Amino acid sequence: MSREEFMEAASDFPEPFRLLIRESVESTNDEVRVLAQAGAPDGLVLLAERQTAGRGRRGAAWFSPAGESLAFSILVRPEEPKALWPRLALAAGLAVAEAIESFRLQAGIKWPNDVWIGQRKVAGILVEAGSDFAVVGIGLNVNSTEFPPGVSEIATSLRIESPQVFPRAEVLGEIIRKFAARRLQIGDDFDALICGVRLRCVLTGKRVTLCTASGPRAGTVEGIAASGELLLRTENGLERLIQADELRLLPP
Ligand code: BTN
Repeated sequence: MSREEFMEAASDFPEPFRLLIRESVESTNDEVRVLAQAGAPDGLVLLAERQTAGRGRRGAAWFSPAGESLAFSILVRPEEPKALWPRLALAAGLAVAEAIESFRLQAGIKWPNDVWIGQRKVAGILVEAGSDFAVVGIGLNVNSTEFPPGVSEIATSLRIESPQVFPRAEVLGEIIRKFAARRLQIGDDFDALICGVRLRCVLTGKRVTLCTASGPRAGTVEGIAASGELLLRTENGLERLIQADELRLLPP
């Protein structure tokens, strides 16, 4: 990684975002949590070249090869009530999708946390809350051309989708600029945020299955409600999903 390129890109970050670079950490989310607990300010972005224990949702490992991907976490100290903080995942997903689009690729959002290109996942988001802060962790496959078995079937990268080497520092700068605007919309301006998510929602009109506490269920996605919930038409009628970790698209 060229530290200089990243620091140069960071000089264009909007206020209050600041970049901290680490060569190797277990997980950038854990690192930022520790810094937050020690009083680090809103807007800290911690980027690591290598994560030895990068995490996805449900405790899955996150694969982010050094030099090819972006793995970073943003410390947010929201002014909005805590009940609204889960919306940060939508803000981050939309920011990543918009950043990808500024490099002339089309991105979709698989509600609530994944960014797709075509039928494959290019980025994942892990939001974790502390007492008075949230950590928004973002992993984006930028220049990888190969993935390990188990990942290769579902993953893609910017480079796979548009054969060229992407400037990781510039991609990071774009994400931060988009996120700076979108994270301000989790409260009063949520309509605008949801509008952007709806435009890119890859699930609308699709049949999906999901795991619930009462077992697996299938349904057709009708869209995203004004409050950010997924609207799913099941045999029980129209259900509103707040979270769904195991949501799978069924073949058409
Ligand atoms: C998912 O799709 O399951 C979420 C993946 C989130 C990965 C990122 S990489 C940076 C940050 N640090 C972590 O340990 N995880 C997140």
